[in-house]
Amino acid sequence: MPKPTNDEWGKAHTDDVCALLRLTPRLQCIADRVPEGARIADVGTDHGYLPAYLLQSGRVACAIASDINAAPLARAKRTAAKYGVAERMDFRLCAGLDGILRAEADTVVIAGMGGETIVSILDAAAWDWRGVTLLLQPMTKAELLRRWLTGHGFRIAAERLVRDRGTVYAVLTVTAGASAPLTNAEAWCGVGLLHDPLYREYALARVKKLERAAAGLRQAKDLDSAQLAALEADAAALKECVKEWEDANGTGH
Ligand SMILES: C[S@@+](CC[C@H](N)C(=O)[O-])C[C@H]1O[C@@H](n2cnc3c(N)ncnc32)[C@H](O)[C@@H]1O
Repeated sequence: MPKPTNDEWGKAHTDDVCALLRLTPRLQCIADRVPEGARIADVGTDHGYLPAYLLQSGRVACAIASDINAAPLARAKRTAAKYGVAERMDFRLCAGLDGILRAEADTVVIAGMGGETIVSILDAAAWDWRGVTLLLQPMTKAELLRRWLTGHGFRIAAERLVRDRGTVYAVLTVTAGASAPLTNAEAWCGVGLLHDPLYREYALARVKKLERAAAGLRQAKDLDSAQLAALEADAAALKECVKEWEDANGTGH
């Protein structure tokens, strides 16, 4: 067989090498928290960008990409093919963790869903969570998720904030374990975030949300004064946290 010319070698090489996948800041923040060498399950993977990146970069040993819907799973398969990791990614069409065994993964990512959906997925899973790292990134109702976790045998080991397209999101690293009950401010604004540069922005967005809910209650026909007082107290507690953050970070006025 004739030897390929230099040009032919170059072409074969570029055809074989797939482009490197670049993640959005939100997904990159999650990827950076995945333990090196993890066996990961990405529940609700949609495009499959996260597991594809983790396999491509060599950060994980193997990856399961799962979704409850066929169309997103088909997208994940296309992503895996495009970025050259299809052989190493396992695809599961299933609700939550229904089609994934505990023995298959030591790290579970559930990201880009509402806090209530994340709770329902965890609640439905008959897993022994010891030794599992959970990376959770709620789009809404983070306070509900934090309260549920600490009331159901989970510990929020760390949180990190990330800004993506103008919104600040929290990424929670969670393990099995006992946990002290959260303060209302921790439930709303996260655990151990007082040194995070985005904390002020995140907390003020939560204050706004609470104040909007309080304004809605004040206009209701049957004023629920206990609920209103609770919302106002939570908003006041968060404002105190913002002051604490400003003092700690030298930005107080
Ligand atoms: C907005 S996408 C998030 C994709 C990706 N995880 C991210 O963070 O960018 C949500 C995906 O979760 C899937 N999903 C929703 N509920 C689910 C469930 N109970 N179990 C598995 N997947 C679910 C949806 O089909 C959708 O593809």
